[in-house]
Amino acid sequence: MRRPLVAGNWKMHGDAGFIEAYAGALRRAGRAKDVDVLVFPPACYLDRLVAAVAGTGVEVGAQNAHWANDGAFTGEIAPGMVRELGAGWVLAGHSERRALFGDTDERVADKIVAALEANLQPILCVGESLAEREAGSAEAVVARQFGVVAERIGREGLARLSVAYEPVWAIGTGRTASPAQAQDMHAYLRSLIEARSGGVARDLRILYGGSVTPENAPALFAEPDIDGVLVGGASLVVERLLAIVRAAEAVGAHRN
Ligand code: PGA
Repeated sequence: MRRPLVAGNWKMHGDAGFIEAYAGALRRAGRAKDVDVLVFPPACYLDRLVAAVAGTGVEVGAQNAHWANDGAFTGEIAPGMVRELGAGWVLAGHSERRALFGDTDERVADKIVAALEANLQPILCVGESLAEREAGSAEAVVARQFGVVAERIGREGLARLSVAYEPVWAIGTGRTASPAQAQDMHAYLRSLIEARSGGVARDLRILYGGSVTPENAPALFAEPDIDGVLVGGASLVVERLLAIVRAAEAVGAHRN
């Protein structure tokens, strides 16, 4: 069974006042019913957000963490530090990190390994560019991105992983993948997971990300292999994030 997961990625947005107002709205909304809700604020606000959402059931994660636990890495944050701030989750391989900050497949795998060692729950982001989709290589790209990580973490790591399929052409563009396009890739990803480690595939959550809104979320959740969403822009308006949570509640867990 795969409990739905709604994750908001604030990217480099937010400040202290925003966090207070956001957490207040989450408290007023009450606990989500059978849906996991995560928020990924900028790292400097992790502990502030953790404190602000205490008692709401909402969990907090980092958008990125380093592959080493300490060392001469100016400007970086170790997974153990994220953990100490009270966060339980971390993203790895977001397309903005891959495109703008040099996160290669191998680095992403290093970061997932380090996150698991620090007892964080990693969400691996994968997804093809528009050129790659048009060239017919979307599946090959996603298989490569996933494969490098799967090779490193094995069955035990896969059992603790979630994956977010985020086609680069759908991120922040208002151009979402159709539910059928997303479902096709999710089913493909699940078949890759199944091929590597049987039983794990049924329980591993695969999220869709890329211009998710309250309007398109119900159709996405209705697909049998879309177990959650990673929401950027729409998550900056707490009412919109909550509307997406309601859509997830309406559909419930996937059991296929
Ligand atoms: P978006 O971002 O919802 O603004 O398209 C998604 C993401 O980058 O995770």
